[in-house]
Amino acid sequence: MSGKPAAGQGAQPIALVLVAAVGENGVIGQGNALPWRLKSDMQHFRALTVDKPVVMGRKTFQSIGKPLTQRTNIVVSRDPNFAPPGVLVATDLTAALALARDDARRRGANEIVVIGGSGIFADTLPDADRLEITHVHASPPGEVYFPAIDANIWRETAREERRQGPEDSAAFAVVTYQRRANAAA
Ligand SMILES: NC(=O)c1ccc[n+]([C@@H]2O[C@H](COP(=O)([O-])OP(=O)(O)OC[C@H]3O[C@@H](n4cnc5c(N)ncnc54)[C@H](OP(=O)(O)O)[C@@H]3O)[C@@H](O)[C@H]2O)c1
Repeated sequence: MSGKPAAGQGAQPIALVLVAAVGENGVIGQGNALPWRLKSDMQHFRALTVDKPVVMGRKTFQSIGKPLTQRTNIVVSRDPNFAPPGVLVATDLTAALALARDDARRRGANEIVVIGGSGIFADTLPDADRLEITHVHASPPGEVYFPAIDANIWRETAREERRQGPEDSAAFAVVTYQRRANAAA
């Protein structure tokens, strides 16, 4: 990927952060929907993304069904006619990250957040600075996966276990991974 947000250049560096909820089997999606219901994780997701540009694939956008409020929604699609209201559309990931970087600078945000799906996560992982992963304690069926998190590259720096709430289909842990100092992006 050549779309890594430029660090420095007189302005504050902008980190690239991946946010995902991942089953114990690596599954993140089934039938263009989430394979679980995790009301308790929604607040966490909002806190990680609000007031920032969020980059997502066209299917993820359609599965959410509407733009996420209080965030700049940047959707990647190769379809030049895809132009839903309330979002910015880019026809490739490099252009999407450039839009996100400009938006972050305009907002004074220090992060771009990538929110899926599978190919977008895989393509941005090599350039990512941090991962915010909700590890769902379940192994649901599904056909969409998060890429492997290589312990040689990623260091777990925070973990908080969350009990299953009344509107959650499983317990989960929210985990932060930072790129190891010797693992070049
Ligand atoms: N658990 C989680 O954290 C999480 C997060 C996100 C999504 N999900 C789940 O994952 C599934 C959706 O993800 P997905 O992987 O199937 O699809 P996706 O990545 O959301 O969308 C794929 C589409 O994005 C566009 N696209 C992807 N890469 C592109 C590129 N490099 N350049 C231009 N366009 C590009 C293409 O759109 P066009 O076909 O329009 O060209 C492609 O068909 C759903 O089940 C959703 O619920 C889960």
